[in-house]
Parts: sequence; structure tokens; C-alpha cells
Amino acid sequence: MSMTASLIKKTSHHRNWGPMDLDLTAQPGETRLLMEHVLVPGIERIDTYESKGGYQALKKVLQSKMDREQLIKEVQGSSVRGRGGAGFPTGNKWNFVPKTNDKPHYLLCNADESEPGTFKDRVLLERLPHMMIEGMIIGSYAIQAAKSYVYIRGEYTYAAEIVEIAIQEAYNKGYLGKNILGSGFSHDMYLHRGAGAYICGEETGLISSLEGKKGWPKLKPPFPAVEGYLRCPTVVNNVETLACVPWIVNNGAAAYAKYGTPKSTGTKMFSVSGDVNRPGVYEIECGKSLRTLLDACGGIKGGRKLKAVIPGGSSAPIVTAKECEDMTLDYESIASKGSMLGSGGMIFLDETRDVVQVLKNLAEFYHDESCGQCTPCREGTGWVLKILHSFTEKQARAEDLKLLEATSNNMIGRTICVLADSIAMPALSYIQKFPEEFHAYLEKSQGSSFHG
Ligand SMILES: Cc1cc2nc3c(=O)[nH]c(=O)nc-3n(C[C@H](O)[C@H](O)[C@H](O)COP(=O)(O)O)c2cc1C
Repeated sequence: MSMTASLIKKTSHHRNWGPMDLDLTAQPGETRLLMEHVLVPGIERIDTYESKGGYQALKKVLQSKMDREQLIKEVQGSSVRGRGGAGFPTGNKWNFVPKTNDKPHYLLCNADESEPGTFKDRVLLERLPHMMIEGMIIGSYAIQAAKSYVYIRGEYTYAAEIVEIAIQEAYNKGYLGKNILGSGFSHDMYLHRGAGAYICGEETGLISSLEGKKGWPKLKPPFPAVEGYLRCPTVVNNVETLACVPWIVNNGAAAYAKYGTPKSTGTKMFSVSGDVNRPGVYEIECGKSLRTLLDACGGIKGGRKLKAVIPGGSSAPIVTAKECEDMTLDYESIASKGSMLGSGGMIFLDETRDVVQVLKNLAEFYHDESCGQCTPCREGTGWVLKILHSFTEKQARAEDLKLLEATSNNMIGRTICVLADSIAMPALSYIQKFPEEFHAYLEKSQGSSFHG
């Protein structure tokens, strides 16, 4: 263990999460562009990564002193979209950064990964940190950033050790530091550990936190690309997004865009949890059927039937089994079912699941994680939880279903960030798609007031 790694251990006050215990064996139906070498022993170390073609993309960019605009055009041409949740086209985001150098520019890698049901970045951080680092250096070159930061979830202790070692290895090889590969481009990279707040994954909350302030989101615009970290132009990208960059540079935008659909190109790493036989992380070409993913993870446990899917992490509205029949794994198809691809955290629910209980569970999380800055979120998440609690405790009144809907509607679009929407939108979708389950609780309820 390196000195830095042991320091992390000694000073950490977080829950310390060791290596993740996942079977990453490739399954039929997967298309592994990012995870191709994930099982190679020692792939997290630089020599092994290089032996599999690692850092060739960086060499291609820096040794030819590739024109920055050309590089951004290449990423735009691939149509790769942000894998952190919003699905914003990455090349366009890079292109928003001013081309002047009046102020320093920064690149921040969002490795906060705290959305319930999402754990795919952890695989990249623990197994393929150099792919992310290579993507970060290339991205930093494109936007002329002299410094970048990996903002990593506090609980990811082992992953932090791996990334810290990987950054040091990249310095030792001359991929970081001054005058990288004789190109004249200099770049420094730092690892920053979060302290366990979900809100710090929201990009402006992340920036506030990195600045040493409370992790409170800020109103947009101005967008970080124009005014971000230390009020300077800043690109915030997800781990998986940045890990796509070396592949795109090595193989070309057109090769990347051959995978997937015209609007959802490439592959997506899905974190699969819930009632399946083999929860895990699967890389699937965008546009493939949901069935492909369900087969890859061994189907629903115990031979039971699928009831519903939460397709994009816990903040995504629910999709019924019927709607899943023709749903494909791309932004558009999932949006057409009233939900979103989000971070690709797929939570499968079997026929025995009680969706009111599931929603209450989620409401607990969002109420706990609301930063408290905006009243509709601070109070609204609490109200949603209280009302759901009245249902599950069989104390709801006839009017409480309407109250739950009204409260949710009053939270949407009224706050600085979308944490409030992240429980309000699911709540509305659960009510709309499974009304009978809420009514069944009402029928069993005593109707006593919980408000008093
Ligand atoms: C409450 C909240 C939490 C978020 N958490 C994360 C996160 O853990 N990781 C992440 O990449 N994006 C997260 N996002 C999305 C980021 O704000 C941002 O869109 C993303 O990092 C941009 O990177 P991308 O364009 O590569 O997707 C979160 C958003 C919200 C509203």
C-alpha cells in the first residue's frame, strides 16, 4: 500500500468500503467497449493498462498536438451523452467552455455516485481507473484546463486508494505534470473525497463542496462551463462519460456512433439490482431491448414475474412490466414511457413487491438527503414521507392520496436543483401506474389523522 493510501485509511472518518464483490464475467448480450479488459488481472495498474493499449489515445492527441477544436468536434461527432444522469451531449458541453484563457479552466470528474441503485462507476474506479484518468487528461487538453479533480464518494475508500495510486503512476510515466510527452501541455490532477452527501453529486453542489463550502447547489445559469469552480469555466463530467473518451479518440467518432441508435450512441453500463438472479454491472449497446439486459442478469429471481422497473436510478419514474415489453435501452424509448435512462441504475421489482413500501423507502432517502436550502424540497420531501407513512401504517385519510399528488406537484420545478423532483416525479408515476395499491391501503386504513 502506498503512503497516500495508508494515510487515507488512517484519517478516514467514513464508512470504509472495501473492493466490491461482483462477478464481472461477460454475459451473452453484452457489448463491452469500456469493460473489455475489466477482468484482466492487474488492469488497475498502469503497466497492465498500457499493455492493453492504454494511453495510446493520449499519445495520439498530444504527440500530434491535435487541434483542440478538432478534438471537441470528434467528441461531438460521436454524439456521446453524459452518463451521470442528464444525458447532455459531452462534446457540446466541452464546446461551451470559452476558447480564451482569461481565467483558468477546470475539469471535474463526478465520482460521487450516491443514487440508490447506481454502482457502475465503482467498477470503473476500482478496475479501470486509468481509462477515466486518460479521458480526463484528454478532456482537460480539449478545454485547456491545467488542473482537474476527481470528486469521489466518501464511502469509496478502496476505490479512492486505487485512484490515488493510479494518479501517482500517471505522474511517474509523464502522463501528468509538466510538458506532458513533450507537447507543451502541462496538467495536474487531484483526488478529493466527499463526506457522504448525495447532494454533492449535483454538479453545482459538487463545485461548492470542492470550494470548501457547504455542498449547496446553485441556480443555473450561469452554467459551470462558463462560471463553475472558483467562478472559472469548468466542465463536470461523470466517470463513465470520461472513460468513453479514449475509445472515441482511438477508434474515431464514426466507429462509436455505429453502436446504438442515432440519438443514443455507444454502449451504456447498467447497474442492475432488485429481484434478479445476478445483480451486477452489465455493458449493453444502446437501443437493445430491456429483455437483453434482463437475460444477461439471469432473469427474475425464483421464476417470479416482473412487476415493474425503475430504469434510471431511484429518481426515475417507474415503468410497468407491460410498458417494458417494447422498451429499449436508449434515452428516447425510456422517455416515451414517462421515465428516464438517468444513470442507468436498473432496479427490477417482481410481482410480490409492494410499490407503496418501495416509494416510502425512497422518500426516506430523499428527505434525509435534501440539503434544506429550498423550502419545497426541505418541507416537501418530509410531507411526502409523512403521507406515505400514514399509508403504510394504515392511518391514511381518504383525501391523502390527493394530498400526496398535490404536494408532489408543488415540488416539481420549484427548487434550485432537481432533488425535489427526484422523489416527486416517481411519487406521481407510482400513483398513476399502480393506483389500486394506494387504494388498497386506504381501504385498510383507520382514517385517523397523522397531521396533528
Ligand atoms: C441530486 C443530484 C445528484 C447527482 N449525483 C450525481 C452523481 O453522483 N454522479 C454524476 O455523475 N452525476 C450526478 N448528478 C448529475 C450531475 O449534476 C451532472 O449532470 C453530471 O455530473 C454531468 O456529467 P455528465 O454530463 O458526464 O453526465 C446528480 C444530479 C442531481 C440533481
